Amino acid sequence: MSNHAEPAVTESASIESVLHENRVFQPPEGVSSRIGGAYVKSLDQYHALYKRSIEDPDGFWSEAAGELHWFAPWSSVVEWKLPDAKWFVGGQTNVCYNCVDRQIASGHGDDVAIVWEGEPVPGAGGAGAALQYEAGISGPEVRKLTYNDLKHDVCKFANALKNLGVRKGDVVTIYMGMVPELAVAVLACARIGAPHSVIFGGFSSSAIVDRVVDADSKVIVTCDGAWRRGAIVPLKDNVDAACNELQGSANAVRNVIVLKRCNNNISWNDVRDTWWHELVDNAADDCPCEHMDSEDMLFLLYTSGSTGKPKGIVHTTGGYMVFTYLTSKYVFNLVPDQQQVFWCTADVGWVTGHSYIIYGILPNRVPTVMYEGAPNYPQPDRFWDIVERHKVTQFYTAPTAIRAFMKWGREHPDNHDLSSLKVLGTVGEPINPEAWMWYHEVIGSEKCPIVDTWWQTETGGHMITPLPAATPTVPGSCTLPFFGIDAVIVDDNGNEQPVETGGLLAIRKPWPGMLRGIHGDRQRFIDTYFSRIKGMYFAGDGAKRDARGNFWIMGRVDDVINVSGHRLGTMEVESALVSHEAVVEAAVVGMPHEIKGTGIAAFCTLGPNHQPADKSNAEKLRSTLREHVAQEIGAIAKPDMIRFTDALPKTRSGKIMRRLLRSIASGDEQGTQDTTTLEDFTVLAKLREDKEG
Ligand code: PRX
Repeated sequence: MSNHAEPAVTESASIESVLHENRVFQPPEGVSSRIGGAYVKSLDQYHALYKRSIEDPDGFWSEAAGELHWFAPWSSVVEWKLPDAKWFVGGQTNVCYNCVDRQIASGHGDDVAIVWEGEPVPGAGGAGAALQYEAGISGPEVRKLTYNDLKHDVCKFANALKNLGVRKGDVVTIYMGMVPELAVAVLACARIGAPHSVIFGGFSSSAIVDRVVDADSKVIVTCDGAWRRGAIVPLKDNVDAACNELQGSANAVRNVIVLKRCNNNISWNDVRDTWWHELVDNAADDCPCEHMDSEDMLFLLYTSGSTGKPKGIVHTTGGYMVFTYLTSKYVFNLVPDQQQVFWCTADVGWVTGHSYIIYGILPNRVPTVMYEGAPNYPQPDRFWDIVERHKVTQFYTAPTAIRAFMKWGREHPDNHDLSSLKVLGTVGEPINPEAWMWYHEVIGSEKCPIVDTWWQTETGGHMITPLPAATPTVPGSCTLPFFGIDAVIVDDNGNEQPVETGGLLAIRKPWPGMLRGIHGDRQRFIDTYFSRIKGMYFAGDGAKRDARGNFWIMGRVDDVINVSGHRLGTMEVESALVSHEAVVEAAVVGMPHEIKGTGIAAFCTLGPNHQPADKSNAEKLRSTLREHVAQEIGAIAKPDMIRFTDALPKTRSGKIMRRLLRSIASGDEQGTQDTTTLEDFTVLAKLREDKEG
């Protein structure tokens, strides 16, 4: 494993470069025709188009936007007054229209829009399989929705929302499993101009409470349960817990819409709860698309930052739509009518699912696959089974998943015919070269270009990425900026760094998919993204550029860790830990982890009455604390390592020395770190003593 999941130095802009990788892979022979005719066929063509996109952004982006439908044209392409960008100003459109109705209008209503596969497999055991048996379903459940089907379902649900009093501008919270109705709910919100706030189904009820309050959302759409590895995730119970906590407050939830999926027992509140199917049965079939201003909010999506409180990232209509459409088209080379089938394995609860399961893919008229469950249910070959049966052509996943596949063994993919695959993608964290090579050889048979896409919740879509038939790739590098993206590596003063020198990754010009704010917190928006480097968007990542101009992401430089490609603020986990009565103070840092890339290490000081008497009590307390964090945030935030300590290492000014903790957590027990500013040396010795287990 390479160790570049953690930057070498995180407190300053001078970041040591930790990786040396020289293998260059040219786009494979014949790739252009395999991908239905490449939009960009050579590196020269990329450079020419890139140059144009930077020199003439108005021309470049209006051509892109012109490929989509607008109810009213824009009067100017971009207005930029740092930190505020407006795109396609004065234009009116509807994202749902462009995802669905536009395809029907051009005569493609019967084309497949969504290919959905459920998790349960008959014979695999578990309640889901039994249900399927009862229903007489013989294989994994598959539903294919055409654009006509999708429009029908979306209109009905949009009317159902309206019947519950949801109006343009009202935030609808969505907390569902990966069922087709999740896509329907999202698109229905877009259709009527009600911004959605999708909460990942793995988050806990406390996470729902925080987000519902912040967004002032009165309606939650959920399921009775969700299938995960044969078991049921009790989604409705979590929503109930959140609603009960908010009951009687100004943030009380008015309506909960419940989709029946797992048939599990749930409790029912007659005032608040309504079944999805009953609402939809009573709703009219036709629902016109709201004409949205280009800068009207499309959705809120909460993500972790350096403080304990998640930020509601605001994305608006026109710019986000054009950006996700165009990045999908070029980066995956989506071409309609070429038997392409696109599969992004992310959950819609993350930005990757928003942009590359739904909003970017549907307007390109290539079927998008949605899979409900776990990659290793019932066997570790489930993904490859899906690729083979649905003849997936473009496959987009996370490095953490690739590392898990490597561990499970190549016999699983080898047992399947993966010859339909043409382009492979990764996202979420730096991919270590070993995993890149495995992906290239075992999954791609050395014939599929790998697009390692760097971007963020805040950027809306791909920012730095190869194009499949144009960009030579290097394992571990996300290569070159997408069109219109003016990415640079700078020091704290905004000076561009020389080649092979680590620095801060920043973007100098606005782009259509950029966030428009943090919901309800203007100052945090300015402080987080536009204060550290004057005049530029600061991404929070450290990076370097090599002599070829390729970008190498070296990891976060703020107090955010990237666990399995998902962002978690160390402060969030720390707050969760100290909310337990035993913990007085906690410090959380990232540590190298074989599968997750970065794991969570927590150092906790305990209250006087909570000191564990012996090793077994310490172990018990560790597991209690892990469960506590899972309850407060969600299972993904459970610490991988917890150490108890009398005190945390602090500087004389009282700042926790995270650098030191990171080095201890990564196994540097001898301590090669500079400790000259450490207040109390005995603390260090103690920390090293308390090894787990
Ligand atoms: O640190 C970068 C890492 O993930 C962060 C963004 O996280 P999030 O907003 O949750 O979005 C993840 C999916 C877009 C970035 O600041 N990251 C994302 N993609 C890559 C990456 N790091 C290296 N290489 C990537 N391809």
